[in-house]
Amino acid sequence: MGEQVSSRGTWSGRLGFVLAAAGSAVGLGNLWKFPYITYENGGGAFVLVYLAAIVMVGLPVMMAEVLLGRRTQRNPVGAFRILSQGKRGHRLWPGVGVLGVISGFVILSYYSVVAGWTVRYIGLAISGRLEAMAVHPEALQTFFSGFLGSGAQQVLYHTIFMGATVGIVILGVQKGIERATKVLMPLLFLILIALVAYSVTTPGFGEALTFLFRPNFSQLSRGAVLEALGHSFFTLSLGMGAMLTYGSYMKRDNSIQKAAILITFLDTLIALMACVVMFSVIKSFDFEVTKSAVILFTTLPTVFAKLPGGSLVSALFYLLVAFAALTSTISLLEVVSSYAIDELGWGRRRASLTMGGAIWLFGALSAVSLGANDTLSSINVIGRSSTAGVFGTLDYLASNWFLPVGGFFIALFTGWAMNPRESRETLEEGHGPMRAYSFWHFLIRFAAPLAIGAIIVSVILGVEYN
Ligand code: PHE
Repeated sequence: MGEQVSSRGTWSGRLGFVLAAAGSAVGLGNLWKFPYITYENGGGAFVLVYLAAIVMVGLPVMMAEVLLGRRTQRNPVGAFRILSQGKRGHRLWPGVGVLGVISGFVILSYYSVVAGWTVRYIGLAISGRLEAMAVHPEALQTFFSGFLGSGAQQVLYHTIFMGATVGIVILGVQKGIERATKVLMPLLFLILIALVAYSVTTPGFGEALTFLFRPNFSQLSRGAVLEALGHSFFTLSLGMGAMLTYGSYMKRDNSIQKAAILITFLDTLIALMACVVMFSVIKSFDFEVTKSAVILFTTLPTVFAKLPGGSLVSALFYLLVAFAALTSTISLLEVVSSYAIDELGWGRRRASLTMGGAIWLFGALSAVSLGANDTLSSINVIGRSSTAGVFGTLDYLASNWFLPVGGFFIALFTGWAMNPRESRETLEEGHGPMRAYSFWHFLIRFAAPLAIGAIIVSVILGVEYN
C-alpha cells in the first residue's frame, strides 16, 4: 500500500482534520439550503426528521467514509480498488470512487458560481449600494435578475472563486487546506455568534425559536422526510468521497468516531444557528416570503436594510457565507486533485491547476446559461429537483442521484463486502475498544442502505417534494 503515502501529505493533528472536514461540511447547504427547505417544510417537525437522518444515516456513513480513506490512504478510486482486491465484484467497486470524482467535478462547477454571488454581495454591502437598493424590494429583485442574466459577471465571480479555491489546494494538505480552514472556520464561527447575539435583540427572535423547535407534525409530508434524508448527505459532504479523501490524510492515532461526532455536531449547530438568524430577522418584519429559495439574496438584504447597522450586518453575513463556501469548494477540488495525484501520478501543482481549470470551464458554461428569464426557476440550484437550464440539471443529477447512489454503495461496501475485523480494527485505532461498534455496524448494514434505498426509489417513482 505504501509507495506514495509519504508524498501525499497528512493533517498536522486531530484539530487539523476536524476543522478541514467541518469546513467541507459547513457551506451553502447550511447557510442557504437548510434554512429555506426548513422554511418551506414548516419548521419544527422537519428539523426533527432531519436530526434523526443525521444521526441514523449521516453519522454512520461519515464514519464509513473516513475509515475507508484512512485504511487505504488513497483517493476514492484507489481506496475501493485496494479494499476490493480479491473480493467479488472487484472490478466494479472502484466505479463507486469514479462516480465520486465525477460528482466532485460536477458539484464544484455550479457551487462555485453560487459562491461567487456572495462575493458580489460583500462588495455591494460594503459600498452601501445593497442597503440603498434594499429599500425597494423590487429594485433588489431587478438587480438580482439582471446580475444572473449577465454572463460576463457570472463568469467573473465564478473565476474569482475558482481562483481562490485552486490557490489554496495547490499549496497542499497542511500548508494550504489546513492553514486556510484554521483561519476561516474560527472566523466563521465568530461572525455567526455575533449574528446570533444580534438576532436575540430583534423582535422576531422568540417566534423564530418557536417555528424552529416546536414540531407540528401535520406540516410534514412524505416528500419532506425524503428531502431531509437527501439533505443530510449534501450537508455532511457524504456520498462522493470528500470525507474519504480527507480521512486519507488523517493520522492513525486519532479516533474516527470522536472526530465524526464532532464534525456532525458542528455542521448541525451551524445550520440551526443560521436558521435562528434568518428567521429572527424575517419574523421581525412579517415578511411575505414568496420565493424562499432566494431568501438569501433578495429577502434577507431587504430585511437587513431595515435594521440599525444594516450595511455592516449584511457585509458580515455575506463574508460568512463566502468563507463557508470556500472551505467546501476546497474539499470538492481536493477529491478530484487527489485522484489525479494518486491514480494518474501527477504532481499536486499540475493536478490542481488542470482539474481546477477544467472545472472552471465547465462551470463557466453553466454560468452563462443562467438566463434572467428563468431566474427564479433555475435558482433552485442547490439540491432541488428543478431541471431548468444546465445549472438546475447538473444539481438535480448530483444531489438526487450521484450522492445518494454513492452513499448507498459506500454503506453496502463497508457493511457487507468489508470484513468486520478490518472495519473494527480501523475504527479502534486511536480510539481503543469501541463499545458502539455493533451499533454502528448495524446502522451501516441495515438502517443506512434501507433509508438511502428509499430515497432512490422515491426519486425513480418521481415522488414530488412537498
Ligand atoms: N457540504 C457542503 C455544503 O453543505 C457541500 C458539499 C457537498 C461539499 C459534497 C463537499 C462535498 O454546502
